[in-house]
Amino acid sequence: MKLSVIGCGYLGAVHAASMAKLGHEVVGIDVDERKIAALATGVAPFFEPGLNEILADQLESGRLRFTTDFAAADDAEVHFIAVGTPQKHGENAADLTYVNAAIRSLLPHLSVGDLVVGKSTVPVGTAARLSRVITDSGSGAALAWNPEFLREGFAVEDTIAPDRLVYGLPAEGLDTVLSASERAAADTPAARAKAQLDEVYAVAIANDTPVVVADYATAELVKVSANAFLATKISFINAMAEIAEVTGADVTKLADAIGYDARIGRRFLNAGVGFGGGCLPKDIRAFSARAEELGRGESVAFLKEVDAINLRRRERLVELVVAALGGQAYEKKVAVLGLAFKPDSDDIRDSPALDIAVRLKGLGADVVATDPEAIENSRRLHPQLAFTQDVDEALTGADAVVLVTEWKQFRQLDPVRVAGLVARPVIIDGRNCLDAAAWRAAGWEYRGFGRP
Ligand code: UGA
Repeated sequence: MKLSVIGCGYLGAVHAASMAKLGHEVVGIDVDERKIAALATGVAPFFEPGLNEILADQLESGRLRFTTDFAAADDAEVHFIAVGTPQKHGENAADLTYVNAAIRSLLPHLSVGDLVVGKSTVPVGTAARLSRVITDSGSGAALAWNPEFLREGFAVEDTIAPDRLVYGLPAEGLDTVLSASERAAADTPAARAKAQLDEVYAVAIANDTPVVVADYATAELVKVSANAFLATKISFINAMAEIAEVTGADVTKLADAIGYDARIGRRFLNAGVGFGGGCLPKDIRAFSARAEELGRGESVAFLKEVDAINLRRRERLVELVVAALGGQAYEKKVAVLGLAFKPDSDDIRDSPALDIAVRLKGLGADVVATDPEAIENSRRLHPQLAFTQDVDEALTGADAVVLVTEWKQFRQLDPVRVAGLVARPVIIDGRNCLDAAAWRAAGWEYRGFGRP
């Protein structure tokens, strides 16, 4: 199929490259000339394992190209909207400026029978509004909402082989599609949109990927409720970590034990410095804001608590570091291992790790931070911090070490060897990812998070 992807950030660049890999002919469009110039040479403007190789292969195949010219969408039949929906400045709500602009720029290039497919995470009700904009334009195109569930670090894998597909379809004809009766083949906007999406995702569907067909509102809510659930799961275990801290219990053992119950599951039960990134924090805030607009703020009031628990972990970690430094951080050297919001990413949006480095620096500590991929992004935002790519250099002479992003490079550090580098062998494991016994055996004072 001929596809256009509007917005070539994390979501769009990965989607465009993955769709080309699946055999579609794809043009990626973005207003950012630098981003497009990089992508056109096969270089993603962010770190995602394996993506550059796929970009290079697909550009070479001729099935993938990138441009700033919306006219390139003229030839495409399906147009994905993959622009960002960040948090508004000073508010919890999502900023829809980019979504609205993308639709406006795309409208003159739509033809009868085209399908616009929203992938961005939006407040419920957005798709219905945009559908009216598209209909009123007289373009003859339709809209579907098809949320994306990719995780950074596994983005290509999650796009090519998702664990489910969700289609939010136009109201007209939706009943017949949902009833899956013979009439489902009837030529309605919903049936046509479903057929087009089935063709886009033919490979995943042939591999038995579940497809959930729904109305716009359900599809929009699936996305935000999935992220709200994940955030709640993490804050739940972090709340248990707080209780563990005052009772001498071990939250990692607790997570293992409750995780054996298949109804609970062990994944996303890692207590530590909490969640960050460009999705979970802003999505739970936007969800609260939207629920309040809808007069149902109380229904998701717990998300404010989820956010508060999460942010409290950062304060607690700083307290632990200061305590480990004897109650005073001023002019003490602290090695901060990690800056990205999670491993295998250079993303520092709302990163707990970077926040910890900045807070410690604010307390007068001599912070030296290291991260395999996120130093450049961090330096741009916080030039006051000292960075080094060399982990040994960060550790040398440190009065305390704090691990805040569980990169493999940090998990595999040899406690015996690195004990010889630091001034004082004190480590605070903000992700509970190290073998406490091994570090203690090597002479370290080891402090976990919610562990004795
Ligand atoms: C998240 C969702 O997992 C994806 O399904 C979704 O598509 C995406 O947001 C999105 O909305 O675009 P992502 O932001 O890449 O994906 O990161 P996650 O893997 O969810 O991790 C989020 C944060 O939670 C990280 O800071 C991570 O360190 C933290 N986390 C995760 C924990 O603190 N504990 C855990 O047990 C798991």
